[in-house]
Amino acid sequence: MDLSVYKKDFPVLRDNPNLAYLDSAAMALKPDCVIKAVDDYYNKLGVNVHRGVYGLSYQATDKYEAARTNIANCLGAEFEEIVFTRGASASLNLVAQSYGMNFIKEGDEVITSELEHHSSHMPWFNVCEKTGATLKYIPLDKEGRITVENFKKVLTKNTKVVAITYVSNVLGYVTPIKEIIKLAHEVGAIVSLDGAQAVPHMKVNVKDLDCDFLSFSGHKMCGPTGIGVLYGKKKLLEKMPPIEFGGDMADTVTKDSQTYKATPYKFETGTPIIAGAIGLSEAFNYLNKIGFDNISKYENELAKYAISKLKEIPEVIVYNETCETGTVSFNLKGIHPHDAASVFDNHGVCIRAGHHCAQLITSWLDTIGTVRASFYFYNTLEDVDRFIEAVKDAKDFFGQF
Ligand code: ALA
Repeated sequence: MDLSVYKKDFPVLRDNPNLAYLDSAAMALKPDCVIKAVDDYYNKLGVNVHRGVYGLSYQATDKYEAARTNIANCLGAEFEEIVFTRGASASLNLVAQSYGMNFIKEGDEVITSELEHHSSHMPWFNVCEKTGATLKYIPLDKEGRITVENFKKVLTKNTKVVAITYVSNVLGYVTPIKEIIKLAHEVGAIVSLDGAQAVPHMKVNVKDLDCDFLSFSGHKMCGPTGIGVLYGKKKLLEKMPPIEFGGDMADTVTKDSQTYKATPYKFETGTPIIAGAIGLSEAFNYLNKIGFDNISKYENELAKYAISKLKEIPEVIVYNETCETGTVSFNLKGIHPHDAASVFDNHGVCIRAGHHCAQLITSWLDTIGTVRASFYFYNTLEDVDRFIEAVKDAKDFFGQF
């Protein structure tokens, strides 16, 4: 399979034909159709939603809400279950601040893991610190994976929340989430999934997963920056209080009382992220046309090819040899990941290095950080070859000292 034909849809790649952009786990590039959708909103409408009593505002409202309907359909969710936020971090924090601070108490247990991005586990560390609930970590297996067997070791009748990642941003492992959700529900716990590295790469259906919350960002799936989604089961969102107050989320306001609109609007105060939502909806359409199954298969083929080449270099430590997605984490023995990545930059290879906002897993790996290549469907085998040349050059460069 070769999806590199889609490379031509990306202005940044057209303008930089020799660039190997391998940092899509941090930020995916934007195709023409998404840029056009955002541009069209600003060029042809450019007015506020929900408020204006005039035609342009009605049209903007229709476009904004059509984006919500489309995204809900893509995920198998209901319209009321899609809350627009400014990104996965904001969505994950919303769950912790609203659900966690109101429904979790001393004696309750929250389960998370060392594989989490900071935005997934830190909000619950805070909830536990404030409420007196206990935060427990699923022991990782020897590869650093979350397993059902190890999840069972920490699950008890006191578990009220499971806050975990669907796909690790450092090791790219896919969590066996369906079984974990089923087990969590058996003890009456809810599951908040960090889908930031999953939704851009695989078909996700919230009804099929039966997750209670799913958070993700637009910018990692060819959408604009500053837009994210919180999916929540309607019955949970209905009982959760808002955490931000002000314009457009209020229903009735007097000096003595205030009431709020229904979900999703009670969670979207202020002028919403109109262009972002429209752009994200277009990104879903674009990715659906390529096919999520094709995307996951193709990017894993690139990652496997990269891993096989890296393993031929004795100075390289690969941390996730069995990865089933498009992420490769590694180090050059004795070389700081940032130093290695800066040599890659000289080869036109864009890559992330460091702890990737996931210090628990880099500590678990016993390193200060890793170099991470993250592939998407617009990458090619030539990009991998360029990357491998850069690794060899870095090895030779630092070998001189
Ligand atoms: N969370 C993003 C990453 O893993 C920024 O790079």
